[in-house]
Amino acid sequence: MKLNLRQLKGFDDQGYLFLPSCFSDEEVAALRSEAEAIYKTDRQEVWRETTGAPRTAFAAHTYNEAFRLLSRHPRLVEPLRQLFGEEVYVHQFKINAKAAFEGAVWQWHQDYGTWARDDGMPEPRAMNIAVFLDEVMPINGPLMFIPKSHKAGTLEAGHDTATTSYPLWTLDNDTVARLVREAEPGDGRPGIVAPTGKPGSVLMFHGNLVHASPPNMTPYPRKIVYLTLCAVSNHITQFNRPEWIAHRDFTPIEPVADDALRQFARSYRVAAE
Ligand code: SIN
Ligand code: MN
Repeated sequence: MKLNLRQLKGFDDQGYLFLPSCFSDEEVAALRSEAEAIYKTDRQEVWRETTGAPRTAFAAHTYNEAFRLLSRHPRLVEPLRQLFGEEVYVHQFKINAKAAFEGAVWQWHQDYGTWARDDGMPEPRAMNIAVFLDEVMPINGPLMFIPKSHKAGTLEAGHDTATTSYPLWTLDNDTVARLVREAEPGDGRPGIVAPTGKPGSVLMFHGNLVHASPPNMTPYPRKIVYLTLCAVSNHITQFNRPEWIAHRDFTPIEPVADDALRQFARSYRVAAE
């Protein structure tokens, strides 16, 4: 799947791209039920909120077939090869739960801020691809973006190790307020967007795009997979974090066939019947 000129321009201007219905209900149902099973396991890769609810499961693509197929899926890999003009590898893989009633905040940050400071990634030539496993609504802790903030470079940040169970390089309120003001379109709309959509929708966003998400106070879970792909020539140079958080295998991804996940979902459903 290649991005068209309108999509390339939209990404360059706004810093993100929304692709509704990228994966079918059948494909997403299999991923969702695998994610739920993973959250029940007692693995070191599954991090929990302070309440014990799952927060994020790292590296599921290394031990789970459905997520292995997703991490190599051409609908995700090809657009990034196109954007970076070279082969890509998996830098990180997370399934974020944002559990009903318990999913906590993700403070304002830039992903590349962490990859640069913690992992020694040379350039912001890596980005997150979010795959919605549940419906993301305005009410259940959606991702919030400050459009155009990817043009601000890598901003100063403080290392927040206290607010949540996950350490993050976060931005101060004055910086966020300034960027939001600059992003206001001038027609009364705010300088923050929260793309919402059905399960199977995909959001690709620049490594320097400033984003956050509020807590989920609703009974509706909001599971999102984040596949972080990095240009191979831009691989990380510091190994401070565990291998299952910041991967050290820089082998270019060999994409699977476009129907690989669909085939998996079919056999999975048959096995359950
Ligand atoms: C992230 O920014 O890495 C995660 C945000 C979220 O899942 O809400
Ligand atoms: Mn992030």
